[in-house]
Amino acid sequence: MDFKDYITIIEDYPQEGIRFKDITTLMQNGPVYKQAVDEMTAFAADRQIDVVVGPEARGFVVGCPIAYSLEKAFVPVRKKGKLPRETVDADYGLEYGDSSLSIHKDAILPGQNVLITDDLLATGGTVNATVQLVEELGGNVAGMAFMIELSYLSGRDNLDGYDIFSLVTFE
Ligand code: PRP
Repeated sequence: MDFKDYITIIEDYPQEGIRFKDITTLMQNGPVYKQAVDEMTAFAADRQIDVVVGPEARGFVVGCPIAYSLEKAFVPVRKKGKLPRETVDADYGLEYGDSSLSIHKDAILPGQNVLITDDLLATGGTVNATVQLVEELGGNVAGMAFMIELSYLSGRDNLDGYDIFSLVTFE
């Protein structure tokens, strides 16, 4: 299946020069959404994953169904100030803007195998901050699964040594 057929490209959103990849049109098609999640889950299946981690908000869209399917934990990474208990935090830069991400301090046990998921790998800022949070808690990043990779933003270049899967790549 060519998942690109179901992703809508929006020119100049949210800023001029950005070609936004809208996955809501893919999600509107139940069987296609399921197939996308299933292929990401298949990547994770033989990696002894204990915990699936996904950054808000679109990381939940892929991370939660993968965790459900694997019958493993899902841990949310949220924008700073959104989690109610003690957190560790990491600053990061986005394709547009800067932000800070948080994870609950007790969410991952040292040595647990973690799958990091998100809808999109762009500059890699979000995933790098997420890696930092997971590793600070002692988790082992056993894989990363993205629905979309924007290879022209070279996010992968800063992820040397990690096992990365992307469903579709825009060059
Ligand atoms: C988007 C996307 C990824 C991130 C990718 O999230 O869902 O998490 O940007 O970009 P990067 O590789 O350059 O970091 P965004 O921060 O817009 O949040 P949202 O999912 O809540 O819309």
